Amino acid sequence: MTQAQLAQGTSPLLAVRDVSVVFGGIVALNGVSFDMHKGQILGLIGPNGAGKTTLFNCLSRLYQPSSGDILMEGASILTRPPHRIAEIGIGRTFQNVALFPNLSVMDNVRVGTHARTSSDIVSDSLRLAWIRRSETSVNKKVHEILAYLDLEDVAHTTVSGLPFGTQKRVELARALAADPKILLLDEPAGGLNHEEVYVLGDLIRKIRDERHMTVLLVEHHMGLVMSIADHVVALNFGKKLAEGTPAQVQVDPDVIKAYLGSKDQ
Ligand SMILES: Nc1ncnc2c1ncn2[C@@H]1O[C@H](COP(=O)(O)OP(=O)(O)OP(=O)(O)O)[C@@H](O)[C@H]1O
Ligand SMILES: [Mg+2]
Repeated sequence: MTQAQLAQGTSPLLAVRDVSVVFGGIVALNGVSFDMHKGQILGLIGPNGAGKTTLFNCLSRLYQPSSGDILMEGASILTRPPHRIAEIGIGRTFQNVALFPNLSVMDNVRVGTHARTSSDIVSDSLRLAWIRRSETSVNKKVHEILAYLDLEDVAHTTVSGLPFGTQKRVELARALAADPKILLLDEPAGGLNHEEVYVLGDLIRKIRDERHMTVLLVEHHMGLVMSIADHVVALNFGKKLAEGTPAQVQVDPDVIKAYLGSKDQ
């Protein structure tokens, strides 16, 4: 059974409902709605300035929609501050890598796990035993993720000295460390070569299949989106142009027109 068939008839994991975002006079998103179902890889495409990152930032709570709602398992996420989004299972990477450049790979990934363990100074001192147990499980988790993403060899290397492609993998590792239900990826293929994009596609699929995650993939690389997404949502000028299977969206006349009229192709 395909992911899409599995998803049919079930309530969405994430629902974007009529979301608009206005910056000053600019309407960056204009009444966008779509559903994400458990286990889906959903590709979000559109020419430059279409509103992809704006929507992505609404999902991770960096931007507050001017109107509309975003529901995770039926509950609105819009009252939740950005630092409490990992708790409900939303993890993200950034369009431009946003790691701690002077920390090691291992420490960057460790920071990711803290999004879920949520220890602070007070609870650290009051519940030392619990924290110690938690630290052991954190270390175990960090090692497991480093092995999973083939980063063990660079575990103790400072991030700033690593090639860009490896840094992007570290960012993925950091997001995975919080065990998200939904993984939000903003242009993970940006700056990667052909071979690296191919490997990344396999990796994203593997993460979905083996770690049972749902993935939102914002991406310019059409080859990647069309080869791994189950469902594609196309935006242009802040509006949803089309949605459907990759095959359906690829031949949609409005989508073709939007891309022909842009500098992307
Ligand atoms: N923080 C902001 N302040 C003002 N305008 C913004 C802001 N962020 C985005 N915009 C505007 O909103 C529109 C959508 O931008 P957005 O970055 O979401 O597009 P995108 O689809 O991610 O583009 P790209 O493919 O280039 O990454 C653009 O017109 C952009 O200039
Ligand atoms: Mg963007």
